[in-house]
Amino acid sequence: MSLLPILRYPDLRLKTLAAPIDEIDDDIRNLARDMAETMYGAPGIGLAATQVDIHKRLIVVDASETRDQLLVLINPELIESEGSRFGEEGCLSVPGIYDKIERAERVVVDYLDLDGNRRRIEAGGMLSVCLQHEMEHLDGKIFVEYLSALKQKRIRSKLLKQARITA
Ligand code: NI
Repeated sequence: MSLLPILRYPDLRLKTLAAPIDEIDDDIRNLARDMAETMYGAPGIGLAATQVDIHKRLIVVDASETRDQLLVLINPELIESEGSRFGEEGCLSVPGIYDKIERAERVVVDYLDLDGNRRRIEAGGMLSVCLQHEMEHLDGKIFVEYLSALKQKRIRSKLLKQARITA
C-alpha cells in the first residue's frame, strides 16, 4: 500500500478528461486501494483518480462519520439529480480553501464495483455532494470554478505562493 501524491490546483493536469476503464485488473484494484488509503490519510471524504494524476474514471468516497463506508466507483455516471442545496465544500487538491457551492440535493449514480458488477446508488446529503464533486474531477472540473473570477484569482495566487514556499 502506498500514499499517492495529490495534484494541487492550479496544476493543469487536473483539467484532464479521464478515460473509461474497460478492464478491472490488478492495476485498477491496486490503484483503488492506494487511493482509499490516500483519502483516509489526508484525511478526506473523496478522491478522484485525476487528483493522483491517473486519468481513468475511478473515484473513492466515504462520507460516513464512522469512516467505514468506503465506496469504490468505476465509470460512475450521473443518472438523475433533483433539488438543490448550498453547502461548504473543500478539496484535497485545493488545501485550506472552503466555500459555499450549489449542488443537487439528491443524485442517482450508476457505476461498476471492483468485481465488475453494475451497481446503482441513490444518495442525499453529504454523500450526494461528494459524488457530484468527485465525478466532476473526472471531467477536469474543480469546485472553485463555480466561484467568481476574483475569488478564483485569489485562490490561485495563494496556492502558487504556498507551492513556492514548500518547494
Ligand atoms: Ni476535490
